Amino acid sequence: MTYLTVGNATKQFGVNFKALDGVSVSVDKGEFFTLLGPSGCGKTTLLRAIAGFNDLTSGDIKLGDYDLRKIPPHQRDIGMVFQDYAVFPHLSVFDNVAFGLKPRKVPEAERKARVDEALATVRLSALADRMPSAMSGGQQQRIGIARAMVIKPRLLLMDEPLSNLDAKLRIELREEIRDIQKQIDIAAIYVTHDQEEALAISDRICVMSGGHVEQIGTPQDIYGDPQTRFVANFVGTLNTLKSGADLENLTRNLGLSDVKAETWAVRPERLGLSNPAAREGATIKGTVSKYVYLGREAHLQVSTGIGELVVHIANPGRNAGRAVGEPVSVLITRDALMGFDTNGKRLSTGG
Ligand SMILES: Nc1ncnc2c1ncn2[C@@H]1O[C@H](COP(=O)(O)OP(=O)(O)OP(=O)(O)O)[C@@H](O)[C@H]1O
Ligand SMILES: [Mg+2]
Repeated sequence: MTYLTVGNATKQFGVNFKALDGVSVSVDKGEFFTLLGPSGCGKTTLLRAIAGFNDLTSGDIKLGDYDLRKIPPHQRDIGMVFQDYAVFPHLSVFDNVAFGLKPRKVPEAERKARVDEALATVRLSALADRMPSAMSGGQQQRIGIARAMVIKPRLLLMDEPLSNLDAKLRIELREEIRDIQKQIDIAAIYVTHDQEEALAISDRICVMSGGHVEQIGTPQDIYGDPQTRFVANFVGTLNTLKSGADLENLTRNLGLSDVKAETWAVRPERLGLSNPAAREGATIKGTVSKYVYLGREAHLQVSTGIGELVVHIANPGRNAGRAVGEPVSVLITRDALMGFDTNGKRLSTGG
């Protein structure tokens, strides 16, 4: 069921700069929806417009039956978690979480119960009396999450809540955030520029660039079936193939010569080293320019007539090492190749 709808949102700063340029998204009840894109693409601007911290230049924002643009921020019932935790240093954990309830005139007795519940959800019950200065970044961010949740918001907005934490904690806390969101069953919009985080945490991802939406889809759609060159490049790694006679031969061999692509590209894990048993695909001869063994995977770089190809090999085994300069053949299958037109739009290659 569609719950939040943003229609044709535009935000203009100054005379001719649009931070948002016709953005439309809809988020379902209980959905974890992520805005993913490079710095400056408009993620925070969109989130702030939904929260009511700044208004759109044009477009509409509806939450259920409400026209959010007509409702002042403090009446929107939206919880927000920020990158920098935004905890009050002079208040205890309990009072930080209780803070949001005061303007909402929640009776004293209920206030305590609500705060206790929120603290239990983020696993901070034992630290309720602690001051934030004596807590780790991860714990401080849990205060931020509890404070957003305690108001029982209709929508939870999170703007890069994990980017100040170290890598290990980021992974732990992103899983917790996802569990909490599913447990309280609330629509959440999450902002990140970390593609792996987006893949791990989201029901759907909206990839943005330059104030517009590139693609909206499940993590599988976004990674496995990118609709634009931008999305393919931004999410995951990509070999963009060098044009020339070798590339023409390759596309002809794969039966793709009638696809009028401006660019061809392929993901490293969709390439393999050719083995004599391979029945389909085409091979490209080259020489190894780099070999990096990573245990679960090996990353091979091969110089070929269609450019330097990065090839990821799963479970490389002990004896799969390759020497620099060694000749190898890289196997490319038809369905691994992605073609893009001059506007960067993905072309159909007929399955
Ligand atoms: N108040 C403002 N006045 C003028 N330009 C602004 C203002 N706020 C944001 N911008 C510009 O709008 C664009 C989008 O900014 P926004 O903060 O939404 O990006 P973002 O996607 O959140 O980036 P980041 O990942 O760095 O946080 C940027 O080019 C930014 O400089
Ligand atoms: Mg931002």
